[in-house]
Amino acid sequence: MNKKIGILPGDGIGPEVVKEGKKVLDTIAEKYGHTFEYEYGDVGAIAIDKTGTPLPDATLAICESSDAFLFGAIGDPKYDNDPSAKVRPEQGLLKLRKSLGLFANIRPVTAYESLLHMSPLKVDRIKGVDIVVYRELTGGIYFGEKGRTEDGAYDHCVYSNYEIDRIAHLAFQAAENRNKHVTLVDKANVLETSRLWRERVTEIAKSYPDITLDSMFVDNAAMQMIQNPKHFDVILTENMFGDIISDEASVIGGSLGLLPSASIGDKTGMFEPIHGSYPEAAGQNVANPIATILSAAMLLDHLGMVDEAIDVRQAVNYSLKMGMVTEDISNEQGYGTDRVGDFIVNHILEGEEEGVSSNISLGMSTII
Ligand code: IPM
Ligand code: MG
Repeated sequence: MNKKIGILPGDGIGPEVVKEGKKVLDTIAEKYGHTFEYEYGDVGAIAIDKTGTPLPDATLAICESSDAFLFGAIGDPKYDNDPSAKVRPEQGLLKLRKSLGLFANIRPVTAYESLLHMSPLKVDRIKGVDIVVYRELTGGIYFGEKGRTEDGAYDHCVYSNYEIDRIAHLAFQAAENRNKHVTLVDKANVLETSRLWRERVTEIAKSYPDITLDSMFVDNAAMQMIQNPKHFDVILTENMFGDIISDEASVIGGSLGLLPSASIGDKTGMFEPIHGSYPEAAGQNVANPIATILSAAMLLDHLGMVDEAIDVRQAVNYSLKMGMVTEDISNEQGYGTDRVGDFIVNHILEGEEEGVSSNISLGMSTII
């Protein structure tokens, strides 16, 4: 297949992890005979520095014409510490989501067997956890009218039936291929928008008779996520609650550095690690590339390359099993970002046994 893939490295560790993600895509193209045409665009603080805006038109055009794009991370401390800054890197991300209609943010959380001990949660609570969060991404309080009054400020939370329905269907369809359980997370005891979510989602559930639907207030869901995460299979929720609950869920996996995400709409899709730009680690070759590599796997799924995506995930599992990982999830000192990427690429190309032997011959078996 011939596909156009946008590459938006962004800020901080973004360029380093995206480099590894692209390496994996190149390897898949080579192995399966695909042609990926890449185009690079700036986004975030680096784009502000170069052009004065966090999402230059040229970058948006690259994304619009792509079949899918890989996104690193955005953010820079010089903006985080200045709430009055008029132009902020995050605006680039929000504009990207809205302009491209990326209404569904999909965040899988898996408790990897070999990493259970890394989580601050008790092993028996998290063993076997496999959750996917379906977060609405282009509505709600993030995009409602906002402003200042003489003595205050406001952010409106607005949802239309249509916005709720389209992501609800995606969540139910995902549940069909999983444990057939959807949990709607809302605040229907207080918010009118949440009451609309309940109404619509309960109605939609009728067309998925084999799926169990339950609903939970977001404060309780935050507690259950820690106390009994195995309750959850597919979580369906609005923009703001999804932002919070998905960060909380990430603790289960042991490291933010492992979690990928997909933001999809009607056409192109954006694939990005959940973690931020981690500026303190930028340029040091210590960032965990796995979240980005798993995002590349989700990108392949989106392009209909299902076997290819499985191949990538198997290689990632193998690197976790073999302890070929970065310092954030290593019992020892850990390997460099590029080494972990090389190992994964090698495994994709050569399979298990060869992967190990050529790895050793590359001198990669010693801790750097
Ligand atoms: C996320 C991030 C963004 C969000 C920020 C950077 C605007 O936290 O993708 O979860 O709040 O959606
Ligand atoms: Mg967030």
